Amino acid sequence: MRHFVIVGVLVIPVSILTYFGIQASHLMPVEASVQSVIVDQVWNWDMMTLSFLFALIMVPLVYSLIVFRRRKGETGDGKHEEGNVKLEVTWTIIPLILVTAYAYMGAYTLGETRVADPNAMVVNVTAHQWDWAFDYPEGFTSNELHLPINRQVELKMTSLDVIHSFWVPEFRIKQDILPGRITTLRITPVKLGSYKVYCAELCGTSHAYMQRPVIVTSQADYDAWAKQQAAAQATLLAKGGPEAGKAMVAQNGCGGCHSIDGSKLTGPTWRGLFGSQVKLESGQTVKADEAYLTESIKDPNAKIVAGFPANVMPHFTLTDQQIQSIVAYIETLK
Ligand code: CUA
Repeated sequence: MRHFVIVGVLVIPVSILTYFGIQASHLMPVEASVQSVIVDQVWNWDMMTLSFLFALIMVPLVYSLIVFRRRKGETGDGKHEEGNVKLEVTWTIIPLILVTAYAYMGAYTLGETRVADPNAMVVNVTAHQWDWAFDYPEGFTSNELHLPINRQVELKMTSLDVIHSFWVPEFRIKQDILPGRITTLRITPVKLGSYKVYCAELCGTSHAYMQRPVIVTSQADYDAWAKQQAAAQATLLAKGGPEAGKAMVAQNGCGGCHSIDGSKLTGPTWRGLFGSQVKLESGQTVKADEAYLTESIKDPNAKIVAGFPANVMPHFTLTDQQIQSIVAYIETLK
């Protein structure tokens, strides 16, 4: 009995020390959204329980190692114990209650992070190997996610190819993005600052580099930025030509697969491509003129370049004018 009392008393300070040790290590980034606060509450309860369970296992273990160690001259066997119904029932019932309680807390928290604000701003997100594009309600597209503070944003997300996952650690919540389906995520940013969106689903060679800035600003700063972006994009696209093409290329993340410096990525380089003779997988050779490049953008599998796999390039939704400007841009890459 004396041993149980000592161990029982020791478990309390060890639990507390473990919990505060974990807290002091600052594992979590800042809480930058309404949802992050809710998620962290569950996380904290989780850590408290885990600290207690850790102490409950480690204290009796270490205590037994020291107190019941074999002393000098002891050669006999230890006391033989067989079964203990009371103990077994206890260590079944208590974890059952704990797991059920946590299942409830988890489901409740998940619900809380999905509470919809009818005035939410809707941003369409397109993920593909290996970049992000954000379509704003003001009618322009950017590779950066700018969000006004204290206003819920509803991200409607889809993928052009494989499964990706939207994750900004400071917002805590995470959502998979699937081809042919729209998944949503609601975020209410509450802290001004620059963050980063990461892709959290292994999606191929450049998965680790599938990152883009996420910037939380005041509503006024956001409005000014959106106005300027929309105007600049409209002017550029109306003008057409290589500059508009370069902007389209950046927006659609073509650089993730096509280099402009001659290096070999997932797709053929664009440097010196225009006007060159391209060897195809079929053994034929084709001249890289406007017709060939236009066809390759519209239907990437029509002619496969020797040494490159088919079915890799996704289908991009581009107007003929946009494709023309991209081809004009490729023509400038000598
Ligand atoms: Cu996209 Cu990993």
